[in-house]
Amino acid sequence: MKYSICTLFPQLVTPWTEEGLLGRAVEKELISFDVYNLRDFSGNKHNKVDDTPYGGGAGMVIRVDVAARAIEAVKADLGEPDEIILLSPAGEPLTQAMAEELATKDHLCFICGRYEGFDARVEQLVTREVSIGDYVLMGGEVAALTIVEATARLRTEVIGSEESHQQDSFSSGMLDYPEYTRPLTFEGMTVPEVLTSGNHGKVDAWRKEMAVERTKERRPDLLEGATLVSDKETSITKNPNKKNGNKKSD
Ligand code: ADE
Repeated sequence: MKYSICTLFPQLVTPWTEEGLLGRAVEKELISFDVYNLRDFSGNKHNKVDDTPYGGGAGMVIRVDVAARAIEAVKADLGEPDEIILLSPAGEPLTQAMAEELATKDHLCFICGRYEGFDARVEQLVTREVSIGDYVLMGGEVAALTIVEATARLRTEVIGSEESHQQDSFSSGMLDYPEYTRPLTFEGMTVPEVLTSGNHGKVDAWRKEMAVERTKERRPDLLEGATLVSDKETSITKNPNKKNGNKKSD
């Protein structure tokens, strides 16, 4: 898996790729990160990448030719990316389903904006525009790294085993069940008895029930994308007609 990231702040992005599971996978050459500084593609000796917006208004806009040169450099160095993703609050909302789709690709290229964002013509240079939520960040870097985190952990070469993410929140269309570890009692709070019963069937049933209860309580919207097998039963299956089980409307 290759990730290329075009940004005005490579120093914000690089450290994230050097630690933990990502850092280990990079060391083992199982995944790679190539971080491009958009300023290197300014095309002028002052390294200026932005300009005032046509029609007036506050803030600066990043030039389309700068983004185009950066994308061309990525293509020349690493080949055509499977996806060129522009991070923007106006993009398609990131979901677990999207992360699962992106995780199947070999090369994701991210274009991170700052200031008032990019010249709108940059949209013609990318394959998709993605938002990580309905709020506005100061730039696209955290959003790009969010997609890196959400996709890399789905790759067996990064995580080591597939099992751990198959029962994640959202993978089943529901939130995850609660987990506990030692100590058995902490400040009067005890681990549910069933978990220490040694009865795996009961543990499984309890976990499913908890997942449904939590989802009903905290994110009832998620259950719109799932079908309860029966009222009492706790097993849930994703509605195959629904492209994205996590979205409110489709
Ligand atoms: N850039 C600024 N805000 C963003 C958001 N919510 N998602 C993706 N990119 C962004």
